[in-house]
Amino acid sequence: MTEHLLHERDGALLTLRLNRPDKKNALTGAMYLGMADGLRAAAADDSIRAVMIVGGNDFTAGNDLADFARAGDGGPRPGAAFEFLQVIRSFPKPLVAGVRGVAIGIGTTMLLHCDVVVTARDAKLQMPFVRLGLVPEGGSSVLLARRVGQARANWWLLSGEAFSGASAAEAGLALETVDDNAVDATARRYAEQLATLPPGAYAESKRLLREPQAVELEAVMDAERAAFSARLQTPEAQAIFAGFFARKAG
Ligand code: COA
Repeated sequence: MTEHLLHERDGALLTLRLNRPDKKNALTGAMYLGMADGLRAAAADDSIRAVMIVGGNDFTAGNDLADFARAGDGGPRPGAAFEFLQVIRSFPKPLVAGVRGVAIGIGTTMLLHCDVVVTARDAKLQMPFVRLGLVPEGGSSVLLARRVGQARANWWLLSGEAFSGASAAEAGLALETVDDNAVDATARRYAEQLATLPPGAYAESKRLLREPQAVELEAVMDAERAAFSARLQTPEAQAIFAGFFARKAG
């Protein structure tokens, strides 16, 4: 358990709330494992009928770059992040994300595994993997293009340019975009609506929706994991992480 991830239970709804505001909810190993545990527990608990993932003023600034920097000298490997991705990609119940502020790196790619995504119009989404010396993760190498088309996926994944919550909805990555102060309530409305549906049929339907790409996705995610882990160790990536903290200190 970590104080940086709150599990809030309200009736049939479980909310996983990222809660590390001073670091813009940058994700630590403990936060990933907390989310993975929360999803696993929710899947096994018949009284939980839907899960929401939200942040506060920010969704998440992505993986903690200090952990990426430490990966170069034998520090933490990104195992927890990949464990979380394995759990979220097969989660059988309604899963809704509410995105305010920044959603960077895995903050954007995890949305590809949610059933409903609500963004603030002015949210800032970004997949700066190449800029960081890294490669895409979360299955985004294949899933993003299916969602938003190859041209936009190429641009967002390869250039690493940020885009707004409004653009995410216009492209089909989010279902709805609303004013910042309406995100949580709107996400909650969707989660509550989905929570009323018969859980057996819901889980079976999610399985069918995922099945055509399940084998391919598994292979893609394995390949992403191998490439990502290797890239983390490279001098190219390590110099970029060091630059982030040097700029902060300067
Ligand atoms: N890892 C670790 N710390 C992070 C972080 C991250 N991914 N993102 C933000 N932080 C920390 C900053 O170091 C800063 O900490 P400090 O106050 O102790 O110096 C604090 O969060 C606030 O961030 P700051 O950069 O001052 O806010 P900003 O509004 O100027 O910029 C971001 C916000 C998110 C655009 C910027 O912090 C950023 O680019 N972060 C890195 C995002 C990223 O590359 N994530 C990995 C994706 S794979």
